[in-house]
Amino acid sequence: MLLHSALLALGATLAAAVQPLEVKDQYFVNPKTGNRFQIVGVAYQPGGSAGYDKAKGRDPLSDPTICLRDAALLQMLGVNTIRVYNVNPDVNHDECASIFNAAGMYMILDVNSPLVGESLTSDKPWESYYAAYLNRTFAVVEAFKNYPNTLAFFSGNEVINNVETGATVPPYMRAVTRDIKNYVKKHTSRPIPVGYSAADVRSILFDTYHYFQCALEGDDDNMSMGDIFALNSYSWCGDSNFHEASYDQLVSGFTGNSVPIFFSEYGCNTPSPRVFTEVPTIYGPQMTGVFSGGLVYEYTEEPNNYGLVNMSSTDDSAILLGDFVTLHKQYAKLNFTEIQGQKPGSSSASKPPVCSSKLITTAGFNNNFTLPSPPPGAQDIIDHGVKPTPSGKLVDIKDWTVKVTVKNVDGSVITNLAVKPLGDDDINHPGTVTDVTDNGTSTGTSTAAAATTSEDAAPRSAAVVLPAVAMGALAVVAGYAI
Ligand SMILES: *[C@@H]1O[C@H](CO)[C@@H](O)[C@H](O)[C@H]1NC(C)=O
Ligand SMILES: *[C@@H]1O[C@H](CO)[C@@H](O)[C@H](O)[C@H]1NC(C)=O
Ligand SMILES: *[C@@H]1O[C@H](CO)[C@@H](O)[C@H](O)[C@H]1NC(C)=O
Ligand SMILES: *[C@@H]1O[C@H](CO)[C@@H](O)[C@H](O)[C@H]1NC(C)=O
Ligand SMILES: *[C@@H]1O[C@H](CO)[C@@H](O)[C@H](O)[C@H]1NC(C)=O
Ligand SMILES: *[C@@H]1O[C@H](CO)[C@@H](O)[C@H](O)[C@H]1NC(C)=O
Repeated sequence: MLLHSALLALGATLAAAVQPLEVKDQYFVNPKTGNRFQIVGVAYQPGGSAGYDKAKGRDPLSDPTICLRDAALLQMLGVNTIRVYNVNPDVNHDECASIFNAAGMYMILDVNSPLVGESLTSDKPWESYYAAYLNRTFAVVEAFKNYPNTLAFFSGNEVINNVETGATVPPYMRAVTRDIKNYVKKHTSRPIPVGYSAADVRSILFDTYHYFQCALEGDDDNMSMGDIFALNSYSWCGDSNFHEASYDQLVSGFTGNSVPIFFSEYGCNTPSPRVFTEVPTIYGPQMTGVFSGGLVYEYTEEPNNYGLVNMSSTDDSAILLGDFVTLHKQYAKLNFTEIQGQKPGSSSASKPPVCSSKLITTAGFNNNFTLPSPPPGAQDIIDHGVKPTPSGKLVDIKDWTVKVTVKNVDGSVITNLAVKPLGDDDINHPGTVTDVTDNGTSTGTSTAAAATTSEDAAPRSAAVVLPAVAMGALAVVAGYAI
């Protein structure tokens, strides 16, 4: 760390890098320490799907001013991973990737977007499975493969969400996963895991899981089997518990997993404000044998009201919401030295079951494991690479100070906000950052009307500015002052 600071002072070096993680059996493992890695993450898509604007060359990782602001806040929150839903492989992500890397955070990238030709469709998936679409997914791999903090790629998100889509999509989705895995195998210098992010529609969840995670006879190297499996789950609402939230079903349904499983989204928002009492359970002994953590949905406030932070619509300023403070407190209660210090255990992982129609239990869900071949032209791209080839690399960040205004829940400005670049191999966790935000002399602001205004405008305003939450915000400020 000292050496690192000295070099930085000379302006002579790149910031340190996180250790690329590996998948070993059903765990993410840090090869340097041999410890398991549990995802402590948030979904990150400022602007919602509009945050990806192809015409303007914009995506959530294209603007370093915004990434710096958000990395500083996420560092303070204590997260170690972001999930980004829609990225443009043709824009430069070097600064944002470098900022999140230095802040000790990994990135999980969805290779798709909602635009036509940029994802496999739920309806008539065969019509969207063609070479130009796959080329786009491979281009995302190229754009992100060189960053050490690229943790994984999602080959699809909730493409199966009911029995009808379960009837048609599975072979195509498994084929897309296979094609991306073949591309990764051929063109990346380290094995970056690829897998599916499922909708937690409980009646078809385990059929979905079994369809993607069984071992297909004749499939060399199990190339069509997901390297990871994730689910977007909203079954824990309010101050629930392991059984009432039916997390017990998830654990029993996935027990014996041969790949890492985690929540690619969680955080039911009814009732609101959220209490995030699932957090200690997710990182506790009832879950961690099967799960590897999860990502809270979601960082920014959008019309669906899941935000931890509210961005201004007119400039790049932002204000913390009550849920940010509550989540931070839940994380802060846990001992992450212990959570991230677990060893994978010596017993070898369960073998996945061999694919067979017997694995599928719901009538109408696809139980045919004959996958479509790559569409015309796709194998050529897998063999020879995407042309022209997008490429990314870590770059030097000169200034870690956040230049835009960020306010606490009570409207007071957070002063001295900056990303604290971590040392080589350091991963962010709650408590990593204790000295970069408000030093206790928080400037009261005359435009603190923000809080009052939002109270009038927000549909669920009363919940947003509860006195207890405002007190929590002050506690955050005080906490970082020490
Ligand atoms: C493949 O992707 C690259 C990078 O995004 C793009 O420049 C190229 O036009 C694409 N090729 C095809 C055939 O879609
Ligand atoms: C594929 O998975 C099956 C089941 O775990 C395993 O027996 C087999 O060795 C795997 N094949 C390869 C090539 O990894
Ligand atoms: C956290 O866990 C570590 C490792 O088990 C232990 O040494 C440490 O005392 C714990 N810290 C607290 C505050 O309990
Ligand atoms: C399974 O799917 C393949 C490809 O669509 C098809 O040719 C085959 O007839 C199907 N098998 C059954 C038993 O339906
Ligand atoms: C706290 O921050 C303010 C505003 O940046 C600065 O003027 C003051 O000197 C700082 N106080 C301490 C104790 O660092
Ligand atoms: C977020 O800010 C906008 C104004 O930019 C305001 O209309 C909205 O009510 C705020 N949302 C919350 C949850 O505070």
